[in-house]
Amino acid sequence: MNVLVVGSGGREHTFVWKLSQSPRVDRIFAVPGNAGMAAVAECHDVPTAAGFDELADFAEANDVGLTVVGPEAPLVAGIVDVFEERGLRVFGPNAAAARLEGSKEFAKRIMEAAGAPTGAYRAFTDAAAARAYVDDVGAPIVVKADGLAAGKGVVVCQTLAEAHAAVDDMLVDGAFGDAGSTVVIEECLVGEEASFTVFCDGVTAFPLAGSQDHKAIYDGDKGPNTGGMGAYSPAPVIDDALHDCIMTDIVAPVLDAMEAEGHVYRGILYVGLMVTVDGPKVIEFNCRLGDPETQVILPRMASDLAELIDAAVDGRLADAEATWRDDACACVVMASGGYPDSANYTTGHAISGLDDAAQVEDATVFHAGTSLRDGSVATAGGRVLGVTARGSDIAEAVDRAYRATECIDFHNAHYRRDIGHRALARMTHGGA
Ligand code: AMP
Ligand code: GLY
Repeated sequence: MNVLVVGSGGREHTFVWKLSQSPRVDRIFAVPGNAGMAAVAECHDVPTAAGFDELADFAEANDVGLTVVGPEAPLVAGIVDVFEERGLRVFGPNAAAARLEGSKEFAKRIMEAAGAPTGAYRAFTDAAAARAYVDDVGAPIVVKADGLAAGKGVVVCQTLAEAHAAVDDMLVDGAFGDAGSTVVIEECLVGEEASFTVFCDGVTAFPLAGSQDHKAIYDGDKGPNTGGMGAYSPAPVIDDALHDCIMTDIVAPVLDAMEAEGHVYRGILYVGLMVTVDGPKVIEFNCRLGDPETQVILPRMASDLAELIDAAVDGRLADAEATWRDDACACVVMASGGYPDSANYTTGHAISGLDDAAQVEDATVFHAGTSLRDGSVATAGGRVLGVTARGSDIAEAVDRAYRATECIDFHNAHYRRDIGHRALARMTHGGA
């Protein structure tokens, strides 16, 4: 079977890397791909700004038997609808179902219908009404653009003034365009964050290994939020009881509520959680795997990913099996200094030390923002590399990931030095 992976980041490189190990997979195409994917996949630029017909033509012309979509934007924009209409096998929710990520208000309504635990909220289109609600509830409080905002549409506000500014930014100044023309104002949840991902075939939800990521740019979880500066799996905070609770109290009723509204959910469902003293509460849903969570989940999967995705696409997850390595995996994201503000960094800088990094035991360097310049790998984005390693436990995985990271250099590289700190604190002190 030929496989097409849509996307250009570290998550998609990890998919390509894992799928390339499958005896079921012949050729892998990546659109558009990156310099890392080019080692195992055939990378092509196929325009999608005007719709997905050209990409579907590409899939047909190349006898693609399965398309895996990495990022949320094409899913929310309806890539699955186009591929399914053309009889092409594709893994992901259709546009109506992808609204679980594409509209935070929609997600909140589904959670209400499902009785799934989440923070109290109200949605607003009017700035004065939103400000009045903020004053009523008090700070801290969270202001969220309803639609997709490339990870920047959430402001955790410590003061009323910050919350008013966030409301005005979105509803008055249109900082996120249409995506911010409705805002969701939400209770600020306190606890430890974790992510939980399931593959869904419309009937069965199949859980993957748990993981935790580090969203803030600087050590100690300081500074602005990013797409994720590192991750590790397993997530010690998700014990067996919590796992069962998430499946029973969140995943199952949410999938049922989606079906009741006529949106059978197929594809990946990522549940972003805050583990509070009152139990897990949903922060957000994503309709795809996390980045960099994918980089630490898939290396721990011992079984065939293509087989599991095939089972999901064909509605056979009830009989599917996956085996996981009984070890740990950690990923350190190397970013361009200045990220996450794209105005603050430059690209096109040569990257050295990739071969040395790959020599570190059980290390793999997943490319996020890279391109080939005159045959050499150069930086091409904010998050540049996801330096990943497995180890017998999180401490060993983290240590190996950092040893590999230290082999690599590019202009103004930035990475956090404390990936895994919560899990390591649990190992040392028996608590986070
Ligand atoms: P999101 O874009 O929804 O993943 O939110 C980005 C980050 O904002 C999350 O990873 C949390 O750290 C934080 N966040 C979002 N919603 C809340 C909330 N209700 N309470 C506390 N923190 C939140
Ligand atoms: N790393 C967080 C996400 O992918 O949403």
